[in-house]
Amino acid sequence: MTQQALLDTAPWQGLDPTVLASADPVPTMLNQEERQMYYWLARDYLQDAGTIVDLGSYVGGSTACLAAGCEAGGKSSAIHSYDRFEIHNAERKARLLSLGVPDFLDADILPAIQTMLSPWKSRIHLYPGDIRKMGWSRGPIELLIIDAAKHANTGDHIASTYFPHLIPGRSLVVHQDFLNIRQPWIAAQMSLLSAYFEPVILCGQDCMVFRNIAKIPDNVIAHAQIAPMKTAPYLKALRKITETLAPMVGQRPLRRILKSAKAHPNIRSAHQLARAMKQKNS
Ligand SMILES: C[S@@+](CC[C@H](N)C(=O)[O-])C[C@H]1O[C@@H](n2cnc3c(N)ncnc32)[C@H](O)[C@@H]1O
Repeated sequence: MTQQALLDTAPWQGLDPTVLASADPVPTMLNQEERQMYYWLARDYLQDAGTIVDLGSYVGGSTACLAAGCEAGGKSSAIHSYDRFEIHNAERKARLLSLGVPDFLDADILPAIQTMLSPWKSRIHLYPGDIRKMGWSRGPIELLIIDAAKHANTGDHIASTYFPHLIPGRSLVVHQDFLNIRQPWIAAQMSLLSAYFEPVILCGQDCMVFRNIAKIPDNVIAHAQIAPMKTAPYLKALRKITETLAPMVGQRPLRRILKSAKAHPNIRSAHQLARAMKQKNS
């Protein structure tokens, strides 16, 4: 069976959820299918050809699923996990504590996350802080998880910092928010880079996985920076991907993304876009 034929059968869907028992205590925003896909990719897809990078791991739930998968598959891959690792909202903190997260001082949840991820501590490296201020010098990346492109400028930084380290023909990029209408810049950027990626998995409602198929020249990544882009090329990129991805994803979700970008072409932040949409509807 070819690699793609195997992915087309979505083998993670048939996993017994108990395979993730060791990761269950770590809260996550991922749904169960996504958790199983992360686990399966780490256990069965990876070939120890490079490292794993988890951008936007919240309180470590995605990292735990990846680590459990690596462990089950006997993989040696390290997992580099990035977030601010801060919880400022009191309600959110109370909810996390009610889910069994160890108590933590003020907003600093990093020590609690270190405790929760301790079963896999030899392979996990946590980087607290703003992703936009961090670089990458740890070699080839076989699996890149992106769940932090909540601003176009974060997506731009991620593309220019991490995409040059993908392994053509092998590396997968998981765009957790690809079909989220509050983050149209993700689809616009992947449209501009479509010669270098092929879509391989649609998981759940918003999550899309792409395989890197060719080395991306630096100047191409520079031209795919969305934050400074004028409205016309931004919408053109979205129109293009609305057509090319429709056979796989269906027209509706892509049209919704295009509609949201057209209504607010200059807003390139998920938070601000959500607020603008709410105001328009009220
Ligand atoms: C939807 S959550 C991630 C969910 C996570 N993957 C899980 O398993 O639950 C998005 C995360 O991205 C992080 N994030 C967004 N922008 C960031 C930035 N510029 N630097 C660091 N973290 C960022 C947020 O702190 C948040 O925890």
